Amino acid sequence: MHYVVTGGMGFIGSNLSEYLAKDHDVTIIDDGATGRYVNIKNLVENRTGNSGSAEGLDNSVRFVKGSITDPELLKKEFEGADGIFHQGAIPSVPRSVADPARTSNVNIEGTLNVLIAARDCGVRKVVFASSSSVYGNTPTLPKVETMCPSPLSPYALQKLAGETYCGIFTDIYGLDTVALRYFNVFGPKQDPNSQYAAVIPNFIKKLLNNEAPIIYGNGEQTRDFTYVKNVIQANVKAMESDATGFYNIACGERISLNNLAENIMEILNFHTEPIYKEPRAEDVRDSLADISKANNAFNYKPEYSLNDGLRETIEWYNI
Ligand SMILES: NC(=O)c1ccc[n+]([C@@H]2O[C@H](COP(=O)([O-])OP(=O)(O)OC[C@H]3O[C@@H](n4cnc5c(N)ncnc54)[C@H](O)[C@@H]3O)[C@@H](O)[C@H]2O)c1
Repeated sequence: MHYVVTGGMGFIGSNLSEYLAKDHDVTIIDDGATGRYVNIKNLVENRTGNSGSAEGLDNSVRFVKGSITDPELLKKEFEGADGIFHQGAIPSVPRSVADPARTSNVNIEGTLNVLIAARDCGVRKVVFASSSSVYGNTPTLPKVETMCPSPLSPYALQKLAGETYCGIFTDIYGLDTVALRYFNVFGPKQDPNSQYAAVIPNFIKKLLNNEAPIIYGNGEQTRDFTYVKNVIQANVKAMESDATGFYNIACGERISLNNLAENIMEILNFHTEPIYKEPRAEDVRDSLADISKANNAFNYKPEYSLNDGLRETIEWYNI
């Protein structure tokens, strides 16, 4: 197969591209807004399909530096593609609060461009990276896809618009689409140095430096953390199945930030007291997904527990 990964230089996109490249030709489209070339350097440069010569890496991986806001580029690159994994976005709630117009342009218009180009090029399916943020702050747990979305930030609204566009393209134009609502993804290649860094890379970075992790609020807020390899499995199964629609992708378990910090300290065998700071206004209190819809539709089953994922992630950051 020939797959295109938008946002393939980012955390999730680069892990996904690496996995896909074992069996398929992959084109990565990324403008570098938040992604890093180092994430795909080995993948792009060391293979026989390109100019490199690494043994066993015969499928080609092409990197195209460009933006999903460029419809002509997308039409050119989607020609002959079997499927699009649309991971490209300017992610994070705080980024969208800081710049709603720019993030909207990429996250909504960019997604529309991806869908139009996929339709016009006769691509079989688009799998879109949506977000648990579409649920907002409703206290009901677990979050089930039948709940009414309640976006509370520009980012959440942009993701909801993206998945709604996906559904409309399926209904009107017959383009198969799946939107995956990721819940707090973590794993290797997630940037710990960005000012918008997620909690797990933040904790790991601090603890590896023998510093105390910082927790906003009392640490009793809970999250359904999802190891990136579970997300890859979901993407591949969603692409290969006949399923359409939107699905929660998570682990199906939640843990408080206090317990998360303890688990990481346990693995690192380094113990310290976290530093507690004022809670952040945009943070939801609790998050937990019902993952049965994805399980029924395309047999999604998280294969990695939180601690399996934490061990692999810590090992990666520790190199
Ligand atoms: N990480 C999570 O916990 C999480 C949760 C829910 C949803 N998501 C979604 O998953 C996807 C991947 O997120 P991530 O965590 O890997 O973030 P990331 O920032 O590491 O990756 C996003 C990638 O998209 C690229 N990009 C941004 N604007 C672009 C444009 N105009 N054209 C082409 N590429 C562009 C960036 O350069 C980056 O490489 C995003 O759509 C994000 O909204 C992530």
